[in-house]
Amino acid sequence: MNTIIQCAANHKSSIMAAKKLVYPAADRNKGPILSVLQKYIQYGTPQTFLEISSGSGQHVAHFAPHFPHISFYPSEYDPKLLDSIAAYTNEFSNVKHPLKIDITTDFHIWGDGIFKEASIDYIYNANMMHISPYQCSIGLFNNAGKLLKNNGILFTYGPYAIDGKITPESNVNFNKSLKLQDPNWGLRDINDLMELAEKNGIKIVDIIDMPANNKTIIWKKCENPK
Ligand SMILES: C[S@@+](CC[C@H](N)C(=O)[O-])C[C@H]1O[C@@H](n2cnc3c(N)ncnc32)[C@H](O)[C@@H]1O
Repeated sequence: MNTIIQCAANHKSSIMAAKKLVYPAADRNKGPILSVLQKYIQYGTPQTFLEISSGSGQHVAHFAPHFPHISFYPSEYDPKLLDSIAAYTNEFSNVKHPLKIDITTDFHIWGDGIFKEASIDYIYNANMMHISPYQCSIGLFNNAGKLLKNNGILFTYGPYAIDGKITPESNVNFNKSLKLQDPNWGLRDINDLMELAEKNGIKIVDIIDMPANNKTIIWKKCENPK
């Protein structure tokens, strides 16, 4: 009997392993991103963390064990990725089942309306803004402005342009390759994002240089941004 149970358990864990997609870049950058989160996330009281475009689920699975006081809500636009996110996270009691979220829509329809206005402490979004149409960046700031609590934080990670310039050459080439795949994709300028943020009561707090010419930008919801 024990052997049968063990076989069933092994079978289940091999199915879960098969569903876990591996993005090599996510394996490389999850450690440095975690170090940034650890500086900005407060410990103590229960908090909520919504991830937009979780991809494979590697990021949230790496972060969740470090913040047991936080309820993590991973999400994806591409339904094919939801199984991978679940396979990475179902062992963690502080990670919810992944939601299907299209960031260009209003948060009221996400997950049958589970999110209330000004209810979220942290929103995290990695590598989406440059690999999606600009409407996704607009949707990210519109929804973050409504969902974040006062002083809540939006973390965005990826490569950016600054003052209309992209550096270094590798990012220029990356931007060209994105635009060849889809002319609506491409690195976003931090100045444009600051305008979107301001319209939604969000201000920039810090820009942190990360490995491989990426940045983590820390944005804060402020009811009185002046
Ligand atoms: C390069 S992947 C990044 C995945 C993950 N965050 C990472 O860093 O490994 C870009 C993600 O943006 C998501 N995406 C594209 N359009 C979206 C939309 N309208 N709403 C939410 N996510 C979207 C894609 O499904 C994809 O998973």
